[in-house]
Amino acid sequence: MNRMDGKIAIVTGGARGIGRTVCETFAREGAKMVFALDMIPGEYSAENIKHIELNVINREQVATFVEQVQTEFGRVDVLINNAGITRDALLQKMDESMWDAVINVNLKGVFNLTQAVAPLMMENGKGSIVNIASVVGEYGNIGQTNYAATKAGVIGMTYTWAKEFTRKGAAVRTNAVAPGYVMTEMMATVPDKVLDPIRQKTPLGRLGDPQEIANAILFLASDESSYVNGHVLSVNGGLRL
Ligand SMILES: NC(=O)c1ccc[n+]([C@@H]2O[C@H](COP(=O)([O-])OP(=O)(O)OC[C@H]3O[C@@H](n4cnc5c(N)ncnc54)[C@H](O)[C@@H]3O)[C@@H](O)[C@H]2O)c1
Repeated sequence: MNRMDGKIAIVTGGARGIGRTVCETFAREGAKMVFALDMIPGEYSAENIKHIELNVINREQVATFVEQVQTEFGRVDVLINNAGITRDALLQKMDESMWDAVINVNLKGVFNLTQAVAPLMMENGKGSIVNIASVVGEYGNIGQTNYAATKAGVIGMTYTWAKEFTRKGAAVRTNAVAPGYVMTEMMATVPDKVLDPIRQKTPLGRLGDPQEIANAILFLASDESSYVNGHVLSVNGGLRL
C-alpha cells in the first residue's frame, strides 16, 4: 500500500525545486495523477505527472484548469500551494513592483488555487491542502519584508481554512510546511556569506534537501495525518531553537 494510492493531486510551482520533488514523490507513492502547475516547462520521470502551463495569479487560467480536472476525474484529493518567489531588498530599497510581485504570487496565488479547489473537496467530503510557508514567515529575515509578510500570511490562511473548510463536517484538512533553507534554484542567488552563518546556526549543520521537505509534505497530504489539521510543521534542521 502506497501513501498516495489513487489520489488526484495538484502541485503549484511543480516544474523545479521542492515542487518538482513533491510531484515525483507523489507519483512514486502511487498517485493516480499529479498535476504540476508552472509557468516554466518541467520534465518528469513518471507517466502519472502532467505538466500544466499556468500562472497562479491568473484566476481565469486557474478556474479553467480546475474545471477540467473536475470534469475528467470528478474530484481533487490534494492541493499543494508551493509556487513562490522572492524579490529581496532592505525596506528602504524595496520598490512597489517588488512588493506587488511577491504578494501576488505567494499570497494571491494561494488564495486563487484554494478558492477554486476547496469547494470541490468540501463537496466530496474530504481533502488535504498543504501550504508551503517558510521559517522566514515564523521569525522574519533582513531584506525580506515582502516575502516574510506573505509567508506569515500563508500561516494565517492555514489556520483559517482549517476551521472554515471543516465547518460542515467535511474532512478537508489544511496544514502548512515551513521549510528552513533548502538547496534549490531559489537559493542559488544567495551568496555563501549569507548561507554559511545559516549552516552554523542550524543544529544539524547544513541546509535542507528538497526531498526532506517533500517527505513532510507527503505526510500531511496523505491519510497518515488524518487527525492533523491547522498545523505548521517546521522542517528546518532546528534553526529556530
Ligand atoms: N528553497 C528554500 O530555501 C525555501 C525555504 C522556505 C520556503 N521555500 C518555499 O518553498 C516553495 C518552493 O521553493 P523552491 O525553493 O522550490 O523555489 P524554486 O524557485 O526552485 O521553484 C519555484 C517554482 O514556482 C514556479 N512559479 C513561480 N511563480 C509562479 C507562478 N506565478 N505561477 C506558477 N508557478 C510559479 C517557478 O517557475 C518554479 O518552478 C516556495 O513557496 C518557497 O517560498 C523555499
